[in-house]
Amino acid sequence: MDKFIIEGDRRLHGRVRVNGSKNDALPLLAAALLVEGKTRLHGVPHLSDIAMMVKILRELGAHVEHRPDGEVTVKVTDASRVEASYENVSTMRASVCVLGPLLARRGKAKVSLPGGCVIGVRPIDLHLKGFAALGAEIRTEHGYVIAEAKKGLRGGEIYLGGPFGSTVTGTANVLMAATLAKGTTVIENAACEPEVEDLARFLVACGAKIEGAGTHRLVVTGVESLQGAEHTVIPDRIEAGTFMCAAAMTRGDLVVENVRLDHLGALVDRLRATGVPVERAEGGVRVTGPERFHPVDVTTLPYPGFPTDLQAQFMALLARADGLSVINEKIYPDRFMHVAELNRLGAQVRKEGAAAIIHGVKELHGAPVMASDLRASAALVLAGLAAKGTTEVRRVYHIDRGYERIEERLNRCGASIKRAVDKVLLVKSPAEA
Ligand code: EPU
Repeated sequence: MDKFIIEGDRRLHGRVRVNGSKNDALPLLAAALLVEGKTRLHGVPHLSDIAMMVKILRELGAHVEHRPDGEVTVKVTDASRVEASYENVSTMRASVCVLGPLLARRGKAKVSLPGGCVIGVRPIDLHLKGFAALGAEIRTEHGYVIAEAKKGLRGGEIYLGGPFGSTVTGTANVLMAATLAKGTTVIENAACEPEVEDLARFLVACGAKIEGAGTHRLVVTGVESLQGAEHTVIPDRIEAGTFMCAAAMTRGDLVVENVRLDHLGALVDRLRATGVPVERAEGGVRVTGPERFHPVDVTTLPYPGFPTDLQAQFMALLARADGLSVINEKIYPDRFMHVAELNRLGAQVRKEGAAAIIHGVKELHGAPVMASDLRASAALVLAGLAAKGTTEVRRVYHIDRGYERIEERLNRCGASIKRAVDKVLLVKSPAEA
């Protein structure tokens, strides 16, 4: 197991390029199970989560190639397999995205229930409610969801909201299934995250009929079949936001390239409110870090609200604000595993229910800390970059799930992060994405 050794208090400068989005690429890969012929995706990052999805597609009878330049080709050669095992789904929740395509194209899916997750309970009841509305018979047996549509799926009207708002992969799953259902499907309270909109764009390129992509109401007219298409994954808005926070926190001057600023409105608003200049620059966005930050309040919400996937990183930034900030977590009320670890670095953060109260401190100081999940580990790396002295971040396999060789890319901008083997043996925790 690897760890990062970070020598902190160095300014980041220069340029860093954002990769294709993990959370876009994962459902796009699952969607390849829906189509006839070859799917070709560009800009698919090399991450452990992507490798897991590739493994699952292969188990489901697809021939998959992931080239070093980020191009992925997928072609189904054996459409008889319908099972995604516990072994795979329990290590990556996004594997449930194969449910919709399998059900629509193969008439049956047997997919393990994902189980517990460090960032919250995360049920898939809304996914299942959506499939049931499309006429699927659903039962759970021995920890598996078995969904069947013996006579094929038929269109239906579905409300996909839950206690925490819309569901991102739930919308993706039901949308994929609806593309091949007979008749018209209306999905109300659909997630309108850029990744869902992009999935719809890909499905349309394959021949699907979808109206309302990027809104809370999707209307899908089922078609007989879909044909493989070529598509480029959108830039990862969470990776972009992480680099932007890194520049701000290190009093840096960084141009972050391959950014869709229109996908990052809430982050830019909060960064500017803390006193961080964010400007468009040639090929990207330039972020310069001030000496101190104004305290601000942040509430995570479904898109276009502030993303929960940047909550931990932004907390690391607010840890050094001049005063009191409050973060309200409205998507995952328990996503605060990073609080105790940030406090080990000298932050003063207190969790209060689904909120965190952050008393800004003058400086952070290096310490050994433990990553608990993907975004928490990103927050610890950022805090380590800003802290005085040496920080060791353990269990960095979490960060490798969502950021491709982050240490090399940050080191090229002036950071000092060494990857080393951690001799302390630790059991892996269940995975979150
Ligand atoms: N929810 C339900 N029932 C469901 C589905 C969701 O109650 O059937 C609840 C969840 O428990 C949560 C809320 O609804 O409270 C939103 O969950 P959502 O389904 O939108 O999350 P997800 O699709 O499982 C994706 C990302 C997450 C990101 C969330 C929220 C992927 C592969 N994962 O998860 O990304 O946090 O949306 O934006 O797209 C990450 O990349 O670090 C990550 C965890």
